[in-house]
Formats: sequence, structure tokens, C-alpha cells
Amino acid sequence: MSITLPSGFSFDYDNLCNENAVTAEELAELAPKLKEACEAIGVMRKNGVIRGHLSKDGTPEKVLFSQLPYIADDHLNSEATLAHLAELTDSVRNRVDAVVSLGIGGSYLGNRVLFDVKCGEFWNSKTAEERGGMPEIYFSGQNIDPRRTRDLINHLKHKAAISRSHRKRELTVLLLVISKSGGTLDTMSNFMVVYDELKKCQDISIEVVAVTDPNTEKPTLLKKLAMEQGWPQYSVPDGVGGRFSVFCDVGLTMAACVGFDIRQFLAGARAMDEACLTDDVMKNPALLNAALKYLAGEKHGRDLEVMMPYGDYLKSLSEWYIQLLAESLGKGERRSGEQSPYGRTPIVAVGTTDMHAQTQQHQEGKLNKVVQFIRVADWEEDYVVPDVFPSAPKLSEIAGVTMSAALEVARAANAQALKEGGRYSAVYTLPKLNEYHLGELMYMLALSVAYEGELADVDAFNQPGVEAYKRIMGPGLKAAKEIK
Ligand code: PA5
Repeated sequence: MSITLPSGFSFDYDNLCNENAVTAEELAELAPKLKEACEAIGVMRKNGVIRGHLSKDGTPEKVLFSQLPYIADDHLNSEATLAHLAELTDSVRNRVDAVVSLGIGGSYLGNRVLFDVKCGEFWNSKTAEERGGMPEIYFSGQNIDPRRTRDLINHLKHKAAISRSHRKRELTVLLLVISKSGGTLDTMSNFMVVYDELKKCQDISIEVVAVTDPNTEKPTLLKKLAMEQGWPQYSVPDGVGGRFSVFCDVGLTMAACVGFDIRQFLAGARAMDEACLTDDVMKNPALLNAALKYLAGEKHGRDLEVMMPYGDYLKSLSEWYIQLLAESLGKGERRSGEQSPYGRTPIVAVGTTDMHAQTQQHQEGKLNKVVQFIRVADWEEDYVVPDVFPSAPKLSEIAGVTMSAALEVARAANAQALKEGGRYSAVYTLPKLNEYHLGELMYMLALSVAYEGELADVDAFNQPGVEAYKRIMGPGLKAAKEIK
């Protein structure tokens, strides 16, 4: 059983909904709650209101991510914002040598996915010509790790020295600083260190682009700096939380720096949103996904979710999903005020790699997981495994099969074995690994947590839990400074 969109994207839930897993009866019993969830998400779509949702400051805050796939004059993504992004592309192409994207959480994870899917592992080793004139890309700020920051700085200085000696010119480095709040420790500490070190290097010409909350009445620290220094600015609009921000300038500035097709990405998201306008759970992939996972957790104790794409460049998609699921649904309090923790613990896995590491646990460990596969139906690049060593019959046996077919055989075998062991799984199929289908998938997952928040009666758009460590960290930092 599956829901398949006209594009070929599909959600196959055979191994999650059957007489030995979540049953059709359980799904039918959920109908009143599903109706309420659809009404609530309908209101969110229309005017951005999610019942009970408050900002960090305790004031009502709109939830506007569902507007982002639609490019329109009065929308957060408009022809004007896309033209502004095209300016960034024009400005970096054939001019900037390297972009360092600085950000963490929602200001990093989605960008990493877009980069990995578009560029792959060896982007920075290609020539500028092979990259279509687009710059090399580095990430920073996603940790406060002095060794890696030093390595990045040294690497860029080394490249600058080569540029000076071979090309007789400076290395142009653009720091893309992304922070909605504009003051996040991890991002800003790396920014200041990297900025300072590169600024001191006479072989480097440094530029900054700031992506932050555009509010000018109460500007963020980053916004203030950008205004003072005259840095170009892009927006993380009000109503778009970090984990939903890949569809706004946060993700789209990265897209603009590597030639990722922004319109196709948003078109995929839009097609998914349109497919999810129906209240019929059997036709709405985000709603059905939410309903089945909710029931798997509440009725069958399956409250871990292993996100297991098959393909290396989708591992970061799994990491992006971890934040989306954990921050959206891992809540201690229901909106009714009841203290009753909710949420599925997300787990990053990648096939086939983790079949040789985690699958033992998935297959025989506690019956508390749903394994969510992602498969790509048609890999544009493929190899037939050649019969290079005919004298080794064992190797000859695997010759003749394409790598993509072998990958799918492995995934399907994993799914089958899990099923036979009473384990739950489901599959999202992308017809190809491209911007459009990535937009469909990422948007479906974002909308799905919104639906599930309604089913579980939790606010999927706040994250009060991260304030606890921040309260402790503030005085800790002060103390660390004093000791030094
Ligand atoms: O989802 C979130 O809101 C967080 O993960 C943030 O994205 C993360 O803390 C980074 O915040 P900021 O963009 O304000 O630097």
C-alpha cells in the first residue's frame, strides 16, 4: 500500500500498517482526532495561527513555514526575494573562491542537505570550471571545536598562499553568517575567530553576508553589525523557526552559492503541500505518515524512529530530520497543561553502511522502533559491477549487477527481514535525487510533524527544553572568562 504523487514520489506503508502492526481499525478510530488536526493545520495555512503557540518571550507567534513553497508578491518567498538570491549567485560566481557557511541547528542542517545533494563529497576538489564558476564551500559554527576551526583557518590560509604565488592574487572568502537570533554562541564565536584570523592574512580578501531576523526595531546583534559594516543581508522571517528555515533565505542562500535550483526545490515543496490539502488520510502523505507514527508510538510502544536513507549523500537529510523530529515533538507538556512527555527519539542511520552496524539492533533489539527508509528509484550515475577477477567465482557471482540494483536489493532485504521479525518500517521513494523531489520530501516531513503535534496535543513549534541548559551555560561562560 502506498500513496504516490503524480511526480512518482511515494510513501509506502505496507510494513507499518497491517494486521501485525498499526491496524486499519486503529487508524479508523483516530478519525475524530485527524479531523481536528486537519482543521488546525488549515487555520495555520490560512493565517499562521497554531493554538497555544508562543514565542520564546511568551508572546503569540505565527507559524508561517507553509507559505514558503508559494512564490508570490505578498509572500515570504516572492519574485523580489528570488531576485535578491540571484544577486548572490551572480556576485559569487567566477569571483568568490570560497564560502564559509557559519550556523548551527536550523541554521546549518538544512544547508548541509542542499549542499550534499547538489555538490557531493568532492566539490571542493573540482576546478572552478567544473563547479560552473561557483565557489568552494566550507561549514563552520556547527560546533565550538578549536581544532577544526584551526584546521579550517590554516586550510584557507594555505590556499591563499597558493593563490598569491600561482595566480598572483588574493583568495576571496565570503563568510555567510546565518543566525536568526543573531547571537548564538557557537556561530558567533567561530565567526569572530575566523573573521579575525582571515582578516589578518594579507593574501585573503574577506567579505561577509548576514542572514538573520530582519526586524529593525529590535535588531539582532548580527543585524546591527551588518548595518554598521554595510554587509549584504538576507532574512530569516518572523514565523519561520530554525528547523523549517531550509525553505527560506537560510537554506536558499546556500542554494544560491552552489547553483542549486531554488525554483525546482520550492516547486517540489509546493506540489507536496498541494497533495496534503486533502483531509482524506489515505491520500495525504504527511497526515498519514503522522497518524501511523503516532499510533505506532502510542499503541505499540514504537517510540524510536530510525531515519535510514540508502545513499551517502542523504545522510545529512537524516541529521536534518533528527532536529525536526526531536525539537518539534519531544515535549514534556501537552497544550492542555498536562505533564505527559511525548516524542519519538530519532536515530541517524544510512544504508547500506549501518546494515553492518545498527541493523542487528533493529532486527533483534527491543520492539520499540520504526525504521523509516528513503530510497532513490533511479540513480543517474550507475556502474555495472564488472567481472574483473573471473578466477574468483565468489566475486564473479556479484558481477553483472548494477550498483543501484544491489543497493535496492540490500534495502528490500532489510525491510523484509524486519517485517519477518515483527518490526515496523516504511519507505519514501524519490524517483530521482534532485531538487524537486528533495523539496517534496523535506516539506512532507516538516508538515508531518505539524500534523503530529496536533494529534499529540503538543506545541510543535517551540523548544522550551533548550532554555534549561542555556540558563546554566550563561554564568558558566562568565566564570570561564574570569578564570582565564
Ligand atoms: O530550531 C531552532 O530554532 C534551533 O536549532 C536554531 O536553529 C539554532 O539554535 C540556531 O539558532 P540561530 O539561528 O538563532 O543562531
